[in-house]
Amino acid sequence: MSRKADIEALVARYLEIETPTEGLPLAVSPIGAEEIAAGIETLLSGWLTMGKQVSAFESAWAEAIGTRHAICVNSGSSALLVMLSALVETGVLQRGDEVIVPAVGWSTSLFTVAQAGLHPVLVDVGEDSLCLEGEWDRPVMAVHLLGCPSRATGPVIVEDACGAHGAKIGGDRVGSIGAAGAFSFFFSHHLSTIEGGMVNTDSDEIADAARSMRAHGWVRERNDREAIKAANPEIDPRFLFVSAGYNLRPTEITGAMGVAQVPRLDGYVTRRRANHAQWCDTIEELGLPIRVFPELTGTTHAAFAFPMLLDADAPIDRAELFHRLESKGISTRPISGSNLARQPAFERVPHARVEGPTPVADAVHERGFFVGQSHAFDERHLERLIEALRFAFR
Ligand SMILES: Cc1ncc(COP(=O)(O)O)c(C=O)c1O
Repeated sequence: MSRKADIEALVARYLEIETPTEGLPLAVSPIGAEEIAAGIETLLSGWLTMGKQVSAFESAWAEAIGTRHAICVNSGSSALLVMLSALVETGVLQRGDEVIVPAVGWSTSLFTVAQAGLHPVLVDVGEDSLCLEGEWDRPVMAVHLLGCPSRATGPVIVEDACGAHGAKIGGDRVGSIGAAGAFSFFFSHHLSTIEGGMVNTDSDEIADAARSMRAHGWVRERNDREAIKAANPEIDPRFLFVSAGYNLRPTEITGAMGVAQVPRLDGYVTRRRANHAQWCDTIEELGLPIRVFPELTGTTHAAFAFPMLLDADAPIDRAELFHRLESKGISTRPISGSNLARQPAFERVPHARVEGPTPVADAVHERGFFVGQSHAFDERHLERLIEALRFAFR
């Protein structure tokens, strides 16, 4: 038996990750014996900082999404920051440009736009997708919310695909549609490297700028480094800095765990998507005062979590619904940051403003919620959810 197989067998003996036997958690960890063994192998190898494993994860992820490049970082929020900074660095976007951002999204979908020197303009989301929709005259931040693809277009499309691994518009995977896309590999996501993120792009220039932005602004991992070195012969190339970057690098453990997981993506999305369709159909048939969000025609929903919206005239409010569902073991959350313009942090986001009315984002803010979805869920989990919903509206 090889050392790796030996470690994997040992880990498998002690690992206790099972399909949950009661309630409905928000997520089930996709990290199994193979990833833990890969992490231990990496620790034993003595090379712990970003190296060959990260490169292998990047290659596998670029291929899985269908882009020429993928740049690994330490979180989805870091991926957003690196991606937007690289777009400014390469002149695809200019500092001070307005970027259309959906009012409903994750906090850092908004914050990173401002952190990159851009001016976020929050607008309402579509009532069937809860995502940014339509054609805009300014660059758009297409947040593929909870696995639902955002079909918004503009002069530049930037994608927040942090919760939409494997989602598609037509035949194109999200993250490959715009100038660049960002993914998260946090614990609860389709694939997980504990924490982790990735920037995908087809552009050599954006990819190189992202490589500098990720690691101190230096040239080391850039594909065009030889030309930069030649233009700066007086500076030692080991410490040659070309961008005002950050340090948002992943560790080798991220790479090793990612490599083990990428092959499972399609199977996971198939399961999640089938669950999503069945849950929508079943809940719609119950005639409860809640609406669900079926997959949009022409898209593939990656079903990160299962969003619902309580009717405005429902007999109970959202707080009471949360209380009743949680009492039955159903974990609940508001829909991400809900209307981000109504979060206290909004007034601290430089140059952010709201454009137009936001009735859908407001409804989400007041009455929206989600429950978990997972590759590990089956009929039993749907039954538990249905039973709890019936109890809540009894
Ligand atoms: C849409 C969206 N963007 C960004 C993020 C941030 O990712 P991370 O937690 O890896 O920083 C998340 C996290 O769930 C997300 O759902």
